[in-house]
Amino acid sequence: MNQIQESHKINEAARQLESGHLVAFPTETVYGLGADAENPQAIQQIYAVKERPADHPVIVHLAPSAAIDYWAKNIPPEAYQLIAAFWPGPLTLILQRADHIPDTVSGGQNTIGLRCPSHPVAQALLRSFKDGKGGIAAPSANKFGHVSPTSAQHVLDEFAQEIQHGAIGPVLEGGQSEVGIESSILDLTRLVSHGPVLLRPGHISAQAIEQVLGVPVQFANTGADSSAPRASGTLDAHYAPNTPVITVASELFESTKTQLLAQKKHVATMYFSVPQSTIDLQKTFDLQMPKDVFGYAHRLYAALRQLDTVGAELILVEAPPMTAEWQGVNDRLSRAAFDSRFLLAQLLVANKV
Ligand code: TXA
Ligand code: MG
Repeated sequence: MNQIQESHKINEAARQLESGHLVAFPTETVYGLGADAENPQAIQQIYAVKERPADHPVIVHLAPSAAIDYWAKNIPPEAYQLIAAFWPGPLTLILQRADHIPDTVSGGQNTIGLRCPSHPVAQALLRSFKDGKGGIAAPSANKFGHVSPTSAQHVLDEFAQEIQHGAIGPVLEGGQSEVGIESSILDLTRLVSHGPVLLRPGHISAQAIEQVLGVPVQFANTGADSSAPRASGTLDAHYAPNTPVITVASELFESTKTQLLAQKKHVATMYFSVPQSTIDLQKTFDLQMPKDVFGYAHRLYAALRQLDTVGAELILVEAPPMTAEWQGVNDRLSRAAFDSRFLLAQLLVANKV
């Protein structure tokens, strides 16, 4: 498709957003399902098609030229420091919501999540929408709790019916999302009492944020922080394929796989360091993942979606290292595996009886 056709499609999508319709679009993290952030009915439509509870806030995407003080109030200097360092890019800032912005976008909370994506198609859409002055509210373009989409095809697969029935308008093509996991979310609304709080780890690490701000970043998931704003990406179970996911430590990966195969289980695997088992290859579908964290994150959701279609009874994942740089990937894997956290023990016990 040539560039003129592309920009025509993007402009058409912007007009659709302006008239209250939903548009799916690529970002560098994952694909988003967008609506006009100042149109509560359009946002409710997002909740409806995603089957997402209405009290979960949605991130507002802004063009680089947008005025953040239109969206937020009492903006601390730390926000401007982080914006200078990381925008456009995969960092969402939670700030106090400006009074005139409808609270539908923040699930009734008095905060707002803002992010400026770097993907050229997302930026072109934001520049065209309301002359670059609007905000596009967009959660990931997937059903609530399911794996986020990192290609236009994933969105088409996820919402085939809704697209056919016209509940979702255009799905803009933008290739594979480069980062592959959702933006880091940093809460700056409680700086005085808590400091900056990382609600969701991602490509922009706590360490990188600390280097800019010069103060330690707190983690919302340590249990010490019951006042943290609600964020659906921080629910225990999220980002999950339909097939149960089980993560096992690298050193136990091969023996666990052998035990499961001995039980005639159909196992799909995601591994990165262990050589492929030679036993009973008929019953496994093995995917080798990149060894570096950015390559792994880039592939993660497409791999989970692919393994979800091979008819396996479970997806066995060789756990990546538990180091700081892998925090975003480990966070997504642990949530994908949360609902099946007792399954391995059950299977192995059943085998012994
Ligand atoms: O990378 C991303 O952030 C992608 C792309 C499309 O930009 N979006 C995304 O949206 O992951 P979603 O809705 O799937 O996750 C957004 C997270 C949710 O956990 C939501 O609760 C949280 O951001 N969030 C949004 N606004 C918030 C607010 N005001 N306070 C606390 N959390 C907020
Ligand atoms: Mg999501």
